[in-house]
This record gives sequence, structure tokens and C-alpha cells, in this order.
Amino acid sequence: MIKKGIILAGGLGTRMSPVTKAVNKQLLPIYDKPLIYYPLSVLMLAGIRDILIIVNKGQLNQFKKVLPNGNNLGIKISFAEQNYPKGLPDAFNIGKSFIGNDNVALILGDNFFYGQSLTEQLKKCVKLKSGATVILHPVNNPSSYGVACINKKNKIIKIIEKPKKNISNLAITGLYFFDNKVVNYFETLKPSKRNELEIVDLLNIYKRNKSLSCKFLGRGGAWLDAGSIKDFYETSAFVAALENRQGLKIACLEEIAFNNKWIKKKEVLNAVKFYGKCDYSRYLLNFIKKNNS
Ligand code: DAU
Repeated sequence: MIKKGIILAGGLGTRMSPVTKAVNKQLLPIYDKPLIYYPLSVLMLAGIRDILIIVNKGQLNQFKKVLPNGNNLGIKISFAEQNYPKGLPDAFNIGKSFIGNDNVALILGDNFFYGQSLTEQLKKCVKLKSGATVILHPVNNPSSYGVACINKKNKIIKIIEKPKKNISNLAITGLYFFDNKVVNYFETLKPSKRNELEIVDLLNIYKRNKSLSCKFLGRGGAWLDAGSIKDFYETSAFVAALENRQGLKIACLEEIAFNNKWIKKKEVLNAVKFYGKCDYSRYLLNFIKKNNS
């Protein structure tokens, strides 16, 4: 069972300069809340309550202003800094003492997941005892992602980071579930041609050991990653359309924590005070009225 999760929320956000010059990308809004709320909500939906957020050196205080320590969400949030973006697997080096002897989930701070069976799928993924699991989803532009080829039995037979040739339209999403061996495998990694440690190299070790499995969000699921201004705009429009139509918020952290029975009415009302007069607070007040306990 996976009880710990890491959110990798560093990076320089170069593709989004100048808006990322002063503020970390993961704190910028996807419609009505900071981007980081979305990957955090995914870990919470998976039932994970012990979370390490890795941020860029010097940006800790920015994050602590919006996510102080997790108490109000009934979870534990710790922070660590990354000196510079060495690559995604660096999370397992920075997070080594946080991980200890446990298995761990990793989610990229700019990844957005939505869908009917998402929670169900996540609950299956955190049952992992050994090996690694990735979630695959079709995309139109596979050359921008890590990509997997699968056989008829849904076994991964090939993994490539940002392939120039179109070998598959199945992207490897930024949500990974690893057993504790990941910490040792990290030690064997070497920087790639673009001078980064590559997550696909780590996944390939699991593949070679026949311990890599994959799951799918399914056609009704949505996976987006907010790496550019255009992505922010499009993901925001997606969230706005759904939230305004349904009157239900996506990635409302307090709602998820309350539904998981991790917090009570008191904590939700504290959150309302913390956020002040805003649409998010009004939503929480309404939610509490409907679910009085
Ligand atoms: O979004 C899924 C894709 O994410 C995967 O399909 C790819 O296999 C994987 O390599 C990754 O590709 P990206 O090109 O999207 O990765 P990027 O460098 O944009 O980093 C993703 C997030 O992780 C971003 O929010 C910044 C953060 N990051 C990245 C690196 C390299 C860090 O915090 N530290 C880092 O060292």
C-alpha cells in the first residue's frame, strides 16, 4: 500500500517567462485556484496523507503562504528544495529520507487529471506492493512526452522520452507509483544527452526487471499538463466550463479532505477565514451547509 506521495513542483518555468520570473509556475492559477491544488487533490483522492512538496530553491515561502502544513486538510505536508532542475528522478534523491523504507507515488506539479473513474483507478494504483505502475493516456502530440508502446496484453514493450518518430500515441502521464527499490535504482542513473536524469530511464529499469505495469484513465478521463501559457489557458477553460456548468469544483482540497473524513466542519470554516471573501470560500460555505456534521 502506498501511503506517501511526492509532488515535484520545481522547475524554472522558462517556457512561461515572464510570468514565472517572480512566481513559481505551480502557484499560478488554473481558473480559480493555484495549479498545485490539482496534483495535490489527486494524491488526496488516492488516500495519500503524507506528502512531500519539492520546490525550487528560494521559493519555499511562496508555497507555505498557500499550503502552510496540511493541518487544515488533515494531512501532513513537508517541503524540500531542489537546487536546480536536474530531472524528475531527482525527487527520489531529495526525498530519500522522507521515503524511508516505504513505497511512494510521484506526481508532477503541472499535471491535471479528471474523470469519472479517476478515484477508483487511483485506489487500485496505491495498492502496489512491488514494481512500478504508470498511467497511460492518448495524445495528439506524442513527441512532447514520454511515450509507451504496449502489446495486446497491455504489457509495456518500449518506452521512449519525446520520440522524434511516432511510435505510439500513448503518453506516460506525470503520475507514477513505485516500490522502495526506486531509491536504489536512482543511484544507477546517468544524465541523458540533454543533461537531465530521465524518468524513462528509471521506468526502463523496472521494465527490464519485468516489474513495470500500466493502467489507463480511459476515454472518459482527461489528462492535461500545464507547461505553457497556452496549456494554462486551455486547462483553465476546461475547469471553468465544468465548474460553472455543474456548480461543483474540481480539486477543492477541503471538500476532498472532508469527504475522506480527515477534517470536520471546523476546519472547513477555518479555511473560509483563511481564504477570505472569494468564490472558493462561498463554495466551501455552501458545501458545509449541505453536509452539516
Ligand atoms: O507531463 C508528463 C511528462 O512529464 C512525461 O510524459 C515525460 O516522460 C516527463 O519527462 C515529463 O516531461 P516534461 O517535458 O513535461 O517535463 P518538465 O521538464 O516540463 O517537468 C515537469 C514538471 O516537473 C514541471 O512542473 C517542473 C517539474 N520539475 C522538472 C524537472 C526536470 C522539477 O520540479 N524539477 C526538475 O528537475
